[in-house]
This record gives sequence, C-alpha cells and structure tokens, in this order.
Amino acid sequence: MSEALLKIADKEYKLPIIEGSEKEKAVDITKLRAQSGLVTIDSGYLNTGACTSAITFLDGELGILRYRGIPIDQLAEKSTFTEVAYLLIYGKLPNNTELGSWNENLTKHTLIHEDLKRLFGGFPKEAHPMAIMSCMIGSLSTYYQDSYDPENPEHREISIRRLLAKFPTIAAFSFKKSIGQPAIHPKNSLDYCANFMNMMFSVPAEDYHIDPEIVKALNLLLILHADHEQNCSTSTVRLVGSSLANLYAAISAGICALWGPRHGGANQEVLEMLNEIKASGKPVKQIVEEAKDKNSTFRLSGFGHRVYKNFDPRAKIIKKACDTILTKMGIKDPLLDIAKELEEAALKDQYFVDRKLYPNVDFYSGIIYRALGIPVNMFTVMFAMGRLPGWIAQWKEMIEDPNMKIGRPRQIYTGPTETSYEDAKKK
Ligand code: SDX
Repeated sequence: MSEALLKIADKEYKLPIIEGSEKEKAVDITKLRAQSGLVTIDSGYLNTGACTSAITFLDGELGILRYRGIPIDQLAEKSTFTEVAYLLIYGKLPNNTELGSWNENLTKHTLIHEDLKRLFGGFPKEAHPMAIMSCMIGSLSTYYQDSYDPENPEHREISIRRLLAKFPTIAAFSFKKSIGQPAIHPKNSLDYCANFMNMMFSVPAEDYHIDPEIVKALNLLLILHADHEQNCSTSTVRLVGSSLANLYAAISAGICALWGPRHGGANQEVLEMLNEIKASGKPVKQIVEEAKDKNSTFRLSGFGHRVYKNFDPRAKIIKKACDTILTKMGIKDPLLDIAKELEEAALKDQYFVDRKLYPNVDFYSGIIYRALGIPVNMFTVMFAMGRLPGWIAQWKEMIEDPNMKIGRPRQIYTGPTETSYEDAKKK
C-alpha cells in the first residue's frame, strides 16, 4: 500500500493512501490525531471523504454518474424507478421474481394510518409541502415503534418498504390538502408512478386517465434523482443514522437538508427565476450579469455544482427529455426557451467558464414537472421522492458496516481563552 509523508516541525508521519475501485485515492487520516495531536479542517468538506461506499460513482471532471456501476443514461432509458430503487438498496438488478415481489410488497404498504391523515388538518393551507413531508415522515415512526430498531435486520427491511411505499401517498395527500380536494387513496392495481399520478390528479367525481407518457416521464425523473453519493442531504441521513436514531428520523432530517435552495430546493428556485425573468422582460444577458455581481445575492439557480465541473449528466438527459415530452404532450413552454437562452449565454461567459459552472440536475427538471401538472412548490418533494431510495441505500450500507461509528467531527476553537464570570447585571 502507498503512503503519504506528513512533516510537522521535526517529526514525520506516514499516512496510508487508500484507492477505490475507480482509482480514486485518499489519504487515510484515521490515526492522525493519535500520532500527531493535530486534526484537519475543511469547511464544507470540499476535500474530505466521509466514508467509502459501493453504491454510486460520479466523476465531476468527466461528467460520469453510475449506480452500482451502471451508467445513468442506460438506467434512464431501460429501467423503472422501483427497479433502480432495488438496485441501489440491494446492490443488484432484481430478476423477474424479485422485482415482482418487491413491487407487490411496496404496493401492499401504500396506505397510511387514518390517524396520521388527521395530522394534515393541523397545517395552514399555504404550508410548504417540504415542511409537511419532514413532519409526516418523522411522525410515521410513531406507528411503528415496535419495528424500527436500526440494528434489527427485519426492522430495517420493513421500515425500508413502508417508507418507499408511503412517501408518494403522503406527498399526494399534502398536495390535495393544499388545494382543498379530498385525498385520493392508493390503488393496488396501479404501479408506483401511475399510483402517484392518480393520487395527485384524480378526483372522486370523475375517472382520471393515466397517460403512459406521463408515467414514463416520471419514472425517468425519479431515476435521475435516485442517488448522488455523499451530497448534503445524504450526508445528513448518514450523520443522523449514525447515532442509531431510526430510519424515519434520519429520512426526515434528509428532507430538511434537501429543502435548501442551494440543494434540492433549487428546482423550485429555477422555475421562480424563469418566471421572474419572463415577467421582467429583462434580456437574458442582463440576468447573467446580475448573477456575476458580487454585490448581489442573486445566483443562477440550477447552475454550478460542488462536484460536476463539466455538464451534469442528469441535466443533459433531462434537457433532451424536455423537448421529447413537451412535444409529445403538445406543450410549448416559453420558460423552456428562456432556460435554453440562459444556458447558452452563461456557457459563453468567461465568469461561468472560469468557474466551470454548468447547468445541474435542477435546471431543466422543473420544466418537465410543470408539464406533468405538478405545482412549483411540490418540485422539491419530487426530488425527495426520487432521492429516497438513495438515502435508504446509503443509510443501510452504513448501518450494516460492522465498523460504523457515530459521526462526530472535530473543530478548531477560536473563541475567548479562559476568563472568569463577572456578573454583567451589576455593571
Ligand atoms: C444539487 O452535491 C450534490 O450532489 C447535490 C445534487 C444532488 O443530486 O444531490 O447534485 C443536487 O443540490 C444541485 C445544486 C443545486 N443548487 C443550485 O443550483 C444553486 C445554485 N448553485 C450554487 O449555489 C452553487 O453552485 C452550489 C451550492 C451548487 C455549489 O457551491 P460550491 O461548490 O460551494 O461553490 P461556491 O459557492 O464556492 O461557488 C464557486 C464560485 C463562487 O464565485 P467566486 O467566489 O469564486 O468568485 O462560483 C460562483 C460562486 O459565487 N457560483 C455561482 C453560482 N454557483 C457558484 N455564481 C453564479 N451563479 C451560480 N449558480
């Protein structure tokens, strides 16, 4: 094994270098503090690996993304969301029997407890669905307190299936609640994505036609969002899960992390930005200039990425799907034209070129969600629904690691040195 040599003052420390299956290398500092008394610091973890993982590989320079070794474009073209969920969680594509019982099992767990439904009544009409989702997913655990021990394999399995099965039901119910329509129950005759669309858009007064093109588009979007190695929300799920809090609690925390506009909340921000650009009539060139202005907090939502310094492969697939799906649905969306113009202008601008800022997964996804009839404030919920199997797979991989430790980063203290208590009230 190769080593790194660290020289501090007059001492030298040998640190092992580990190599992954894709030839990525890391300096293993697990013994650094014990040997040298020093820790490392890396705000935002730009250079720090939190774990080894066998689930997802991405190469930001080459724009590569693979789930369990399979390139994302092949899965997007050939697979379905529940099949990809199985792949991520169990490490292999299911055969016919395995897929059949997986889908049947998920179908059997789609209903939520009637008392849990009553929680929806406590939210104001304008409640953001991500607030509802994190609350409801955390609350779901109260119905399964006898079967959510993370260290019990059977409990892990049933929690995984309940979460995957009930998430779409809760998401659709939160939408129905926000528009004052009755909740539509899951139908066991429908597959995962068709069931979700039915719960979202059917009404008791008439039948809802489930368009297979829409179901195909939803499968594609959920597959593309399914996992992305150690992003902010996945790292949150791992950190919360490392304390042996139950899976519902860890996923609830992941939903909150994803909500942020710098993370999954960007897909909602992109649509709002495109709408504002359309309403303002401002030329796209001016928008790009504003995004570069250090005195403004405005950034081009859907642009830039911590890891991708090339095109986000998901954005490429979604951009192509925008044209296909909108044409098939006979939709002409002016926001798509603005998005394309914005992308073209930004990619020609030295500021974006120098910083390797490209459209990411969130830049075009909202155009498709909008075409499917999904409201803007539900876009990040759709991201969470897609990411759920990835969060679960990463949590399971961590929990099943016999060397798992509770996550507890170090710090360097920069506050006041020792001082005494002086009662400020007497001054
Ligand atoms: C997701 O990690 C993942 O894998 C996430 C994700 C997943 O699947 O889980 O891929 C999903 O979260 C995608 C990202 C969605 N967020 C957005 O689209 C929000 C807009 N983008 C930025 O906020 C930003 O690009 C981040 C947060 C995505 C990444 O930020 P970094 O890596 O911390 O980089 P940075 O903020 O330090 O930016 C580097 C430079 C800065 O300029 P300088 O200080 O060098 O002059 O680039 C500039 C930034 O100001 N910059 C932008 C910009 N993004 C970065 N300038 C204008 N518009 C932007 N969008």
